[in-house]
Amino acid sequence: MVSINYKSYGELIRQGNLVAFPTETVYGLGASAWNPAAINEIFRVKGRPSDNPLIVHISKVDMIYEFTNYIPPRAKLLMQKFWPGPLTIIFKKKNTVLDSVTAGLDTVALRMPDHPVALELINHTGPLVAPSANISGKPSPTKSEHVVKDYNGKIPVIDGGDCKIGLESTVINATTTPAVILRPGFISAGEIEQKCGFLPVVKKTSDKDNFTPQSPGTKYSHYAPDAPVYWLDQTKKPTSNSLILLHSAIQLKDGGMTILKFDGDYSRFARELYDWFRKADIEKKDAVYIEPFTKTQLMNNSILEAVKNRIEKAISN
Ligand code: TXA
Ligand code: MG
Repeated sequence: MVSINYKSYGELIRQGNLVAFPTETVYGLGASAWNPAAINEIFRVKGRPSDNPLIVHISKVDMIYEFTNYIPPRAKLLMQKFWPGPLTIIFKKKNTVLDSVTAGLDTVALRMPDHPVALELINHTGPLVAPSANISGKPSPTKSEHVVKDYNGKIPVIDGGDCKIGLESTVINATTTPAVILRPGFISAGEIEQKCGFLPVVKKTSDKDNFTPQSPGTKYSHYAPDAPVYWLDQTKKPTSNSLILLHSAIQLKDGGMTILKFDGDYSRFARELYDWFRKADIEKKDAVYIEPFTKTQLMNNSILEAVKNRIEKAISN
């Protein structure tokens, strides 16, 4: 990989510019967590509703004390077991944390990403707020070219290759009993129970209708291609210009339809889902059809909870 000039990206951030960078989940659109003008710019360029708070990304555990005075014992366990990694943890915020970061909530979301480029960048800049680097409502970017396309090349992107996971981090509030997973992700409730000894409840997708959602971002439609997305069932008659995602063998063309088979490789399914949504747009597909997951598949593959959640949001768009 070409060497990255962290000093000059750090300088850009210090001057109040936005820089997109890779993480293990999706690309993030970074700004200093202490620069109100740069944070406003994030909301502006994404077209993001101002009541949707941002995640602060840190590279060293000590940075957490800039944002909170108190680490509950269960949050400490989560940090020990899962950081750096795809887990965002909610803390009571310090008064000094900018309102634009937390959208006026009294909590702040923190995560230490498991990506060498993200960590090195943050070492140079200090904590960065970073929403997924897509235009609001579009699928999150899992490749640098997705970000280049969304912002017409106007925002600098540090290319770190394709994201390993491809879905956004698990968001958990461990300040309540039981702890609540506000957004499912690669780290499942079961894995948390296994490693930390407590079982969080997973907030139902239908809770998005709640007027005071605990994770405001989850109430917005998200992750969707322009084409409608459907679960594939016998009642559906896809046109020849449809994209069909099945979780069974190799890619093949059939009757004009683009059919993709993932052969039970659910990590790959998760990693490529957003890229296929984006390809459906580029190829101007009429619709995207996805084979539904069975109870057994869901039970045996913890990533599918998150995959299903993102597909349901794309469907309800
Ligand atoms: O994997 C990820 O989390 C990526 C990468 C770049 O780190 N970031 C990401 O950010 O997905 P974003 O802004 O697209 O999603 C942040 C989610 C939203 O659902 C937001 O409502 C929630 O985190 N969130 C942020 N602060 C919160 C808080 N204080 N309380 C509850 N939810 C919060
Ligand atoms: Mg997002």
